[in-house]
Amino acid sequence: MRNLILVAFGGVFAVACGVRPEPREAAVIPQPRAFVEGGDFVRIGPEDLRTAVDTAVVSDPEGYRLTVGPDGAEVVGGGEAGVFYGLQTLEQLKDSAGWVPTGVVNDAPRFRWRGMHLDVSRHFFPKEFIKKYLDILAYHRMNVFHWHLTDGIGWRLESDRYPLLTQRAAWRRVKDPKAPWIGLELSDESRRDSADTYGGYYTKEDVREIVAYARERHITVIPEIEMPGHSEAATFAYPEYACPTAQPGSGVYCPGNDSTFVFLQQLIDEVIDLFPESPYIHIGGDEVGKEQWSACPRCQARKRAEGLKDEHELQSYFVRRMEQYINSKGKAMIGYDEILEGGLAPNATVMSWTGFEGGVRAANAGHDAVMVPLDYVYFDHYQGQNPCEPQAWGGYNGLPRVYSFDPVRPEVDSSKRHHILGGQANIWTESIRTPDHVEYMLLPRLAALSEALWTDTTAKDWERFERKLDRQLDRYAARGWRYAESGLTPFIADQHFNDSGALVVRLGAELTGYPVRYTLDGSLPTEGAALYADSIVIREPATLTAQAFRNGRPAGCVLQVPHLLNRATRAKVSYATPYNAAYTGGGDTALVDNRYAFKRGDDRAWQGFERTDMELTLDLGEEQPVAGVWIQFLQHLASTSVMLPTGLTVWTSTDGNRFTIAAERSVADDSDSEVMIRPFDLRFKAPVSARYIRIRATNRGVLPAGHPRAGSPAWIFTDEVVVY
Ligand code: ACM
Ligand code: ZN
Repeated sequence: MRNLILVAFGGVFAVACGVRPEPREAAVIPQPRAFVEGGDFVRIGPEDLRTAVDTAVVSDPEGYRLTVGPDGAEVVGGGEAGVFYGLQTLEQLKDSAGWVPTGVVNDAPRFRWRGMHLDVSRHFFPKEFIKKYLDILAYHRMNVFHWHLTDGIGWRLESDRYPLLTQRAAWRRVKDPKAPWIGLELSDESRRDSADTYGGYYTKEDVREIVAYARERHITVIPEIEMPGHSEAATFAYPEYACPTAQPGSGVYCPGNDSTFVFLQQLIDEVIDLFPESPYIHIGGDEVGKEQWSACPRCQARKRAEGLKDEHELQSYFVRRMEQYINSKGKAMIGYDEILEGGLAPNATVMSWTGFEGGVRAANAGHDAVMVPLDYVYFDHYQGQNPCEPQAWGGYNGLPRVYSFDPVRPEVDSSKRHHILGGQANIWTESIRTPDHVEYMLLPRLAALSEALWTDTTAKDWERFERKLDRQLDRYAARGWRYAESGLTPFIADQHFNDSGALVVRLGAELTGYPVRYTLDGSLPTEGAALYADSIVIREPATLTAQAFRNGRPAGCVLQVPHLLNRATRAKVSYATPYNAAYTGGGDTALVDNRYAFKRGDDRAWQGFERTDMELTLDLGEEQPVAGVWIQFLQHLASTSVMLPTGLTVWTSTDGNRFTIAAERSVADDSDSEVMIRPFDLRFKAPVSARYIRIRATNRGVLPAGHPRAGSPAWIFTDEVVVY
């Protein structure tokens, strides 16, 4: 009754003052299942709020009913989690003055596994950041935190029984001066709490604190102890659990050795003690190099003794044996789709990362599955196509892609649908060194993921999501959370030459509804610059520069495309050395079409030459003054065979028969392992009159010593040749 009077009085007061808000679209993320609006607004303060758990009203423990009316707001949850989520919805419905639209929200999640992963092994992230990460997850109603605690270079979990895991195995990445590519080195001292994020681990006390923090936010922490591969730190610290024939730090455990299982089972005991509420132990199981098993007499003896026909079955033996132990402790085992190889352990849950197929197979065979397909929900992949994006692993999972993620595939038998527990996104941190960068990769993609996992497919609506996201970005800013504006960054959606030879460019962006301004003279667009409407028609040589604006300020990155309509544009190109059939870049016109390739090696606009030089001749159509040539190349040492050429030569000719050297330079090796696009400006000593331009880029032939794939063919990737 007290509430009723207060609210009624508040309402009258507010109306009298004329501050009742204009109706506006509710911006709740993730979208609730049902929201019946009452058409009015009330002001809700803490005293006008009641909460209760009532399973008779709401059956799903994560579901809730939120009622907002003249007598205040009431949240009834099917469990405490439901109340928690209902209060979040109320908070998102409220405007800055406390006004909330009246109505009834009935809501419950579509999936019960709404997961977010973090790799703290490749780079270490301190406890305080993990808590912030959990805050962000809870805000998006994620209820699983998959904590990737051990991998390659870092074992991040304190062990009483095996202290060397964290004490000796603090690896750091180094540049070896003899082989200047990134390598690994082991540092002797523990680097806990050092500024070097390659070191560091969580004490047991840290873990208990984090698990409790997650519990308060209705998040289950699933620990992962990776096995039998990806365990370099462990096999360096305790080489006796790797195959005797393997190098130290080989990273693969030996299933031929019974003591390997004792070691891992004792570790699992410690893990279970730290994560009592996790129903699962994640054992990884992905990407196991099995060559060492083939060379190991113990492993071969195990195969014979167990009647295993190959190394896949040996892996399956390993996983089954671990599952048996984990099950005996009352826990379930989960692992990546490779655990299907050689036969799935009887009770295993499959986390499907290479695609949906593993999860589909598992579900149809009656196993639970969680979908984590890398080309939808790997958040270490790029979220934008602009070269401004920080180095990422590869791929491109932009907001629409994440939003379209649906863990339930039509290939799953309808009677097996319930085995699809839900989905998850992963953040691997090979290229991510700082908390700030993690947040950048996480937000706002997590908003798209949360709606993909919470909201029924029929209630999903991309355009409404875009509008809601604009308000969500303000919420992030208010909380001090870093987020990406990649979705606002303009890109070239389409371009073509019209009949009069002008270049017609259409811009796009993942998030529409923001004004985009542009210039054609290379200057940065300000608020006074031309406003983009349907297309831009470029009739003269130009550098296109475009920028989105949000709330009157530049947002996202600048799109800049130089050298449009240069002398080479649409020239006839003949090749002395053919480009590779798999990397045509778009064919004979690819280098002069004014479409510039992006930083990712998988951009189809790159034209590739395997082992051979690139040599081509441009016919400009008529003789004209030429002052130089500009051309760019890709290099990506860490994960491709693409390297810069070793030299560049340019000739000119008036008749196409007699060619004269106009410019020549050698290219120094650059061993930076980051992806790079390197432009070369070959300005002639003096302008020459020419119709034909011949360009050769010299390929080094084979990859040099020190390259991860030394001795195999070297590639040249080029895109866009400019003549000026
Ligand atoms: C994985 O990304 N290797 C699970
Ligand atoms: Zn072995």
